[in-house]
Amino acid sequence: MRHVKLGVNIDHVATLRQARGEKNPDTVEAARVVYSSGGDMVVMHLRQDRRHIQDSDIERVRHEVKGLIHLEMAATAEMEKLALKLRPDSVCLVPEGPRELTTQGGMKLEGKNSGLEKIIKNLSGSGIEVSVFADPEPGAIRAAHNMGADAIELCTKEYAAAWGKKLQVKELEKLQLAGFLVKELKMELHAGHGLDYYNVAPVARIEGMDCLNIGFSIVSRAMFVGLKTAVAEMKRLIQ
Ligand code: PXP
Repeated sequence: MRHVKLGVNIDHVATLRQARGEKNPDTVEAARVVYSSGGDMVVMHLRQDRRHIQDSDIERVRHEVKGLIHLEMAATAEMEKLALKLRPDSVCLVPEGPRELTTQGGMKLEGKNSGLEKIIKNLSGSGIEVSVFADPEPGAIRAAHNMGADAIELCTKEYAAAWGKKLQVKELEKLQLAGFLVKELKMELHAGHGLDYYNVAPVARIEGMDCLNIGFSIVSRAMFVGLKTAVAEMKRLIQ
């Protein structure tokens, strides 16, 4: 059986908690359930506006639960400093806009970006695996590789938006070709954004896929079946 890892993004457990500004639902409890239900890592996006995940969520999950933590963050000096302090196992660098509802796509990687390259090198050099969130475009993938990234997380936003439409085949092909290039460059292959119980299987079957990071659909389903079942069902679908 192929082992495609499942990263479960618990940002929206924190979104619900922030609605009341109290303790529940607790991200530490969510992390425990994720690890015990087949999730291979807990994913948290520490946004610059701290609208959901707080620094303390990462600290508490790190200290109170045993398991891998994958941190999504903007490529800024503040976030680099925090990552070096909080010590997640891996980091995904994502673009971040102030009023966006969620990440809008891959990093813009054209041209020389010595700031980004320095952040990648510093994090990777300190033993944190670094992935770059990239659109399934050869130029972006090669640029991230040249900057020293260990992994590419392919953005599946357009694929998810095309699901059930004619464009779906083309968007899947783009991901497959991009995945081929990532593997040719001997990098880890991840994917995520907008994946759900219906559209996930073809992405999980892309040759060489190492890990899928999924949040909104799992936390939404958890409302009705519980987080344990929602994680276990997704895990079953990606094997
Ligand atoms: N991967 C990245 C880089 C993301 O920014 C997000 C959203 O935070 C996800 C995966 C998860 O996306 P979704 O919540 O749509 O499953």
